[in-house]
Amino acid sequence: MPPAQPQAPQKIALPGVKYVVAVASGKGGVGKSTVATNLALALQLLGRRVGLLDADIYGPSIPIMMGVQETWDPNAHEWPLEKFGLKLMSMGFWMKPETAMIWRGPMVAKYLTVFLTQIPWGELDFLVIDLPPGTGDAQLTLTQTAPLSGAVIVTTPQDVSLIDARKGLEMFRQVRVPVLGIVENMSFFRGEDGKRYDLFGHGGGKKLADAAGVPFLGEIPIEPKVAECGDQGVPIVRKYPESAVAQSYLALATAVSEQVGKVGAQPELPGLQL
Ligand SMILES: Nc1ncnc2c1ncn2[C@@H]1O[C@H](COP(=O)(O)OP(=O)(O)OP(=O)(O)O)[C@@H](O)[C@H]1O
Ligand SMILES: [Mg+2]
Repeated sequence: MPPAQPQAPQKIALPGVKYVVAVASGKGGVGKSTVATNLALALQLLGRRVGLLDADIYGPSIPIMMGVQETWDPNAHEWPLEKFGLKLMSMGFWMKPETAMIWRGPMVAKYLTVFLTQIPWGELDFLVIDLPPGTGDAQLTLTQTAPLSGAVIVTTPQDVSLIDARKGLEMFRQVRVPVLGIVENMSFFRGEDGKRYDLFGHGGGKKLADAAGVPFLGEIPIEPKVAECGDQGVPIVRKYPESAVAQSYLALATAVSEQVGKVGAQPELPGLQL
């Protein structure tokens, strides 16, 4: 007789939030947190009420990218924090990264549950969740616990990154979360001469999206100012909204809005008994 399937964790209900969107990838360092942050700000520029939840306990980067001091004291503030009009929550506000390093999936899920159920997010159109890199048990538990409307997969044009993006796609398939599409980050560099340079090849993200039968949500160019703004705590969509890169994040936000419209608002769920 085959072993019994382990029970999937129960989904948390988040009644005030219309769409919960995860930003994910199979691989680290492809620009998830940068995409999540700028996507959240771009959705806000489109007139939506937006929250940003940093679920990357192993390397939370939202506090730095949003220019919020880490306090490591859960009692020090009213939660969620607000910055640039976004509602914000991050493991990085509550603990030093080394504390969380050894946590496994269930522990991560426990904190995510606290973030989703005990933080008054209020009425939001979008809650964007920055997931940790990879497809291990922590990520799997997160995707099974959060009431996700869909996932945005971030990749870069290189082959290795595309293989990992494929793993990310597969993870969402397994937990039956709709993939809203693939966004290719660091797609090309626009030189001062106005020419486009495909530094890492061309068209990989689009090819993968076509092969997987999911939408291609667009390209974000590689632009040193993106990293600079992230390091300085004012994301590029906020600092230079007129720039070409900011426009590509706005195009992404428009594409994501269209796709969530197609898959529908997050399902009505009975809610988790705490
Ligand atoms: N389009 C871009 N142009 C230039 N630099 C970028 C771009 N996108 C991201 N970066 C930079 O690349 C680095 C990695 O980005 P980021 O931290 O967002 O990746 P990540 O996928 O969240 O990483 P991790 O897997 O560690 O969580 C950062 O220094 C960021 O500023
Ligand atoms: Mg990150």
